[in-house]
Amino acid sequence: MKQIKKITCIGAGYVGGPTMSVIAQKNPDIQITVVDVNKARIAAWNDDDLSQLPIYEKGLDAVVAETRGRNLFFDTDVDKAIDEADMIFISVNTPTKTYGKGKGQAADLKFIELCARQIAAVAKDDKIVVEKSTLPVRTADALKSILDNTSNGINFHILSNPEFLAEGTAIEDLYNPDRVLIGGENIEAIEALVQLYAQWVPRERIITTNLWSSELSKLVANAFLAQRVSSINAVSELCEVTGANVEEVAKAVGMDSRIGSKFLKASVGFGGSCFQKDILNLVYIARSYKLDAVADYWEQVIIMNDHQKTRFAEKIVQTMYNTVNGKHIAFLGWAFKKDTNDTRESAAIYVADHLLDEEAQIVVYDPKVSPEQVYRDLDFLGTRTPEANRRLVKVVDDPYTALDGAHAAAVLTEWDVFKTYDWKQIKAGMKKPAFVFDGRKLLDRSQLETLGFKYYAIGE
Ligand code: NAD
Ligand code: UDX
Repeated sequence: MKQIKKITCIGAGYVGGPTMSVIAQKNPDIQITVVDVNKARIAAWNDDDLSQLPIYEKGLDAVVAETRGRNLFFDTDVDKAIDEADMIFISVNTPTKTYGKGKGQAADLKFIELCARQIAAVAKDDKIVVEKSTLPVRTADALKSILDNTSNGINFHILSNPEFLAEGTAIEDLYNPDRVLIGGENIEAIEALVQLYAQWVPRERIITTNLWSSELSKLVANAFLAQRVSSINAVSELCEVTGANVEEVAKAVGMDSRIGSKFLKASVGFGGSCFQKDILNLVYIARSYKLDAVADYWEQVIIMNDHQKTRFAEKIVQTMYNTVNGKHIAFLGWAFKKDTNDTRESAAIYVADHLLDEEAQIVVYDPKVSPEQVYRDLDFLGTRTPEANRRLVKVVDDPYTALDGAHAAAVLTEWDVFKTYDWKQIKAGMKKPAFVFDGRKLLDRSQLETLGFKYYAIGE
C-alpha cells in the first residue's frame, strides 16, 4: 500500500468540515481537500472572516486558521480532488427518505451512490474509500459493487469509519474521542487509516472490526443514546403526576455505575440530524429482515420523543387557560441543543408548529440561528403557507425584545446565556400572570417564583 499523501473528503458539512480540519491539524504532511457541490458553503469555508464559517463550533475557527491554505483546502472541483487523492472520505448527508419504498424510515442513499459513481468515473489509480457518513449496515456491499462495475479495473478498498462527534463539542470530541472505529477487510488499507488517527489518538482507543460491525455499531450507538433520553423523558411525565422530581431520580439512578450519569437529562425531546434518522433506519432494517419485535422495540424510542414534544406544547396551552389564540409566546432558543447553529429536527420546530395550530403568536430569539433558517424549518413542515408562518412568527436578534409584552416565555434550547438575563426586568415587561415554560430545566425555579413568575419545568 502506498503512503497516503493526499486525502479528499466529499461533503463539507457538520462532519466533513470539523473532522478534516482536525485530521489536517494533526497530519501536517498530508494535503486534505474538502469538496462540496454547495458553492455557497465552500465560499463560507474559505471566507477570510472566520466568524462566517458555515458551522458554528467552539474552537473550529482556530483549527481552520492554522490549517487552511497550509494543508487544508476547500474546493468545488470534486473531479480534480477525487483524481488526486489516495484516500477519499465520503461524508455526504444520508437523510431519511421522503419518497418511494421506505419513505419516512429508510436512509436516502442517493448522494452516496452519486459519490461512488463519480469516484469510479474519475479514478485512474487505486483508492481507499472511507465511509464517514452514517450508513445502513451492508452499504459497503453496494458501494463496492458500483465501484467495481463502473470503473476501469481499478482496485478500491472500502473502509467504514463512522463519526461519533456530537455537535457543540465537535472539536473536543475529535481531539479526545472515546474510540475511533474502523471496519474493513484489507489489512493495509485499515492500517493506513489507523496511522492517520494514531497521530493523536492512543492506539488502544482505535478499534478495528469487520465492515458490518462498524456500520451497525454507529446506528446502535445512536439508538442507545436516544433510548436513554426517551427513557428519562418517559420518567419525567411520571414524576409530574407523582410528586417525584426527575432530576433527583436521574441522579439517584445514574450514580449506579452500571447505569452511568450521562444522557439522563430530561428535556422537551431530542432533536438533531442523527438520532431520529438513525433509529428510523434501524427500525427499517429490522423490519426488512422481518424482525418485527426488534423494529417495534426501537420505534418506541421515537414514539416517546414525539409524545414529549406534543406534551410540552399541550402543557403550555392547558396552563394558559386552554387557549393561546393571539397570545404572544417568546421562544428562547431554536437550535436542537446549545452551542450549535444546527436546527435539524429541533424540538422547537414541532412545539412551534403545535402552538401555531392554536393560533399563537411566536417571537423567536436564538443566539446563533438566523431568521431565514427558522422560516425554512417551518415552511419545510408544510403545515401552513409561508405567508401564514411569517404572519404568526417573528424572529428577533435581542432576547429582551422577544420577551417584551409576552404572555409566556418558553425555553427550547439550553443556551447558558439565558440564565444570565435580568429576569426581574423581563417580568416587568411581560403580561401577567407571567408564565415560563422551561423545556430544558435550565432556569432557577426559586429565583423565578420569588420574582412572581408562574414557572413550569419538565419532570417537576
Ligand atoms: P451536512 O448536510 O451538514 O453535510 C453534507 C454535505 O454533503 C452537504 O454540504 C452537501 O452539499 C454535500 N454533498 C451531498 N452530496 C454531494 C456530492 N455528491 N458531492 C459533493 N458534495 C455533496 O451533513 P452532516 O451533518 O455533515 O452529516 C454527514 C453524514 O455524517 C451523515 O451521514 C450523518 O448521519 C453523519 N453524522 C453526522 C453527525 C452530526 O453531528 N451532524 C455526527 C456523526 C455522523
Ligand atoms: C449525536 C451523538 O451524541 C453523537 O455521538 C453522534 O455522532 C451524532 O448524534 P448530536 O445529535 O450532535 O450527537 O447531539 P447530542 O448531544 O447527542 O444530543 C442530541 C439531542 O438529545 C439534543 O437535542 C439534546 O438536547 C438531547 N439530549 C441529550 C437530551 O435531551 N438529554 C440528554 O441527556 C442528552
